Amino acid sequence: MKHFLSLSQFTRDEVQALVDLARELKANPIGERMHRKVVGLLFMNPSLRTLASFQAGVGHQGGISVVIQPGAGSWSLELRDGVVMDGEAVEHVREAIPVLASYCDLLGIRSFAGQKDLAEDLDDATIQRLASFSTKPVINMESASDHPCQALADWMTLDELGIPASGNFVLTWAWHPKPLPYAVPNAALMMAAQRGMNITVQCPEGYALPSRMIDRAHQLGAASIRTCHNRTEGMAGAQVVYCKSWCSEEFYGQPEKEIAKRAGLRDWCLSESWFEPAVPDAKVMHCLPVRRNVKIADEVLDGPRSVVIQEAENRLHAQKSVMISMLEGLKPWN
Ligand code: CP
Repeated sequence: MKHFLSLSQFTRDEVQALVDLARELKANPIGERMHRKVVGLLFMNPSLRTLASFQAGVGHQGGISVVIQPGAGSWSLELRDGVVMDGEAVEHVREAIPVLASYCDLLGIRSFAGQKDLAEDLDDATIQRLASFSTKPVINMESASDHPCQALADWMTLDELGIPASGNFVLTWAWHPKPLPYAVPNAALMMAAQRGMNITVQCPEGYALPSRMIDRAHQLGAASIRTCHNRTEGMAGAQVVYCKSWCSEEFYGQPEKEIAKRAGLRDWCLSESWFEPAVPDAKVMHCLPVRRNVKIADEVLDGPRSVVIQEAENRLHAQKSVMISMLEGLKPWN
């Protein structure tokens, strides 16, 4: 069974087919292509966009969605194998997922990084394991190190902005009070690499992305990749600046040390000054949610270079495209 766990499991042509259908669905959003289909949405972690856009998308196409939020109206779930379940968790995913799948035609799962073991999180082993319990195709709604629905919507947004496949993509780090996982920066990096872009990873010293991620981005076809700690150099030539915070590899799984390490980095809040004088037309992307005036200044979010609302809207169309392609056996499920 073919799931949708990572954009990088598909060829560039296959991704483009999904984007093409998403564009058609954006032009004609209402239909019956999911008539009486049931989509289960299992959220181990909170959401606004993913939850609302999946439910809206299923409804637009005549289906229904079933939302399960363990510990918030449904049983708390245990993910680990071999444990004595005498704590908070009442049910194991080994029962919960196949039961839910038996009621549904498709299953979305969100399960964030444990942020304890870097190798385990970069392997994205948990989402693969959870998908293996499902008898129906699974859509990754954000896992330890990937967010393919976001990446597909971002690809679509770059196309709409007219950014060339080989354009200049700056993935910039921003300060955040907590060390965040690699899921979104990894998904954005791989998406830009699959398009064949020239990529700059801009970050303070100590926040370079793990070499394993950079190696994979090269394999996927990035035209070039550089890591830059100087913002004037990093921003030069940018057509798109994708803003996100992530944790330092050095202190992965050690949040107190990590938070101390980033203490002097609060000036890494994306403001208009970053674009002066060389990159007046660069667009700004962020997956949302964003902490205003912490990661991105009001002047940027409220100004003409921000496309964050367009990106979020495109989640709706991109996810519809994935669900319909799965249900109808369209490329890449043909
Ligand atoms: N970008 C994104 O996935 O948003 P939510 O966490 O609100 O779903």
